[in-house]
Amino acid sequence: MKNLIISFIGAGNMATSLIKGLLKENFSAKNIWATNNNVEQLNKLQNLNINLTTDNRYVVKMADIVILAVKPQTLKNVVIKIRDQIQEKKPLIISIAVGINLNNLEQYLSNKNLALIRCMPNTPALIGCGTSGLFANQNCSNAQKNAAESIFQSVGTVVWLPKEEQIDVVAALSGSGPAYFFLFMKALETAAVELGLAKETAHLLTLQTALGSARMAIESKKTLTELREQVTSPGGTTERALKSLNHDHFPDIIKKALKEAKNRAEELEANK
Ligand SMILES: NC(=O)c1ccc[n+]([C@@H]2O[C@H](COP(=O)([O-])OP(=O)(O)OC[C@H]3O[C@@H](n4cnc5c(N)ncnc54)[C@H](OP(=O)(O)O)[C@@H]3O)[C@@H](O)[C@H]2O)c1
Repeated sequence: MKNLIISFIGAGNMATSLIKGLLKENFSAKNIWATNNNVEQLNKLQNLNINLTTDNRYVVKMADIVILAVKPQTLKNVVIKIRDQIQEKKPLIISIAVGINLNNLEQYLSNKNLALIRCMPNTPALIGCGTSGLFANQNCSNAQKNAAESIFQSVGTVVWLPKEEQIDVVAALSGSGPAYFFLFMKALETAAVELGLAKETAHLLTLQTALGSARMAIESKKTLTELREQVTSPGGTTERALKSLNHDHFPDIIKKALKEAKNRAEELEANK
């Protein structure tokens, strides 16, 4: 893994967080290439001492792994322009683009025999606390899968998916998930302010409660239901709040929202 050449095409937020993660894991800066059509964006990465260029074809020619990290709407054009170099070098291709499935990617590449991995990361990767769902096609070797796993582990937790369509569920759960938690936290904060707390106090208590709950759930051997029950004394305040949430069908609201997000991911793939 340490001797592999990794080329990032598109040096935006996700690529930058992955590059920083790799460097933190002592991956050699000289083995990392990043491209961007916009030189100003490339200049922002100069302090990382990696190799920077605007030439997408050049970085494919030397890569063992190519990470496609451009926006989904740009991906097709980018891939068509580098496909000759990809045919020649046959690197592992990892796409993190939302709404582009492996079938779409094979069409853009005009080749069904390449090693392809689809990955769905999320924004907490920017602070090294992300989650990524990965699916590999049958052309990937174990060594290639291990390398992909190491790359995404450098910015958080990795799960392998047995079926490609599960990527859409991961997109709905952890891809979009930070937005649900931000919405929930904002609602808690706003309600507490309306009930009399200062905004800063409500903000701090909300965030620390979210963090503490997540850490408890990670560190405890108890299930989420057991942990919830542990906080819920019979006849107490939590029980009253939970009754109100259940009366308003909170779990059903969440289920519907996730289904909508998954449907949208499927629509995006179908419209490619
Ligand atoms: N952010 C997330 O939470 C998240 C989660 C899961 C998956 N993803 C996926 O990750 C990918 C990257 O997202 P991001 O948030 O990192 O986007 P981003 O910050 O916009 O990064 C994409 C970069 O690609 C550059 N680019 C555009 N055309 C290019 C070309 N022809 N050659 C080389 N570089 C080019 C863009 O430059 P300009 O801005 O100058 O055009 C930009 O710097 C997307 O496909 C997205 O779907 C993101």
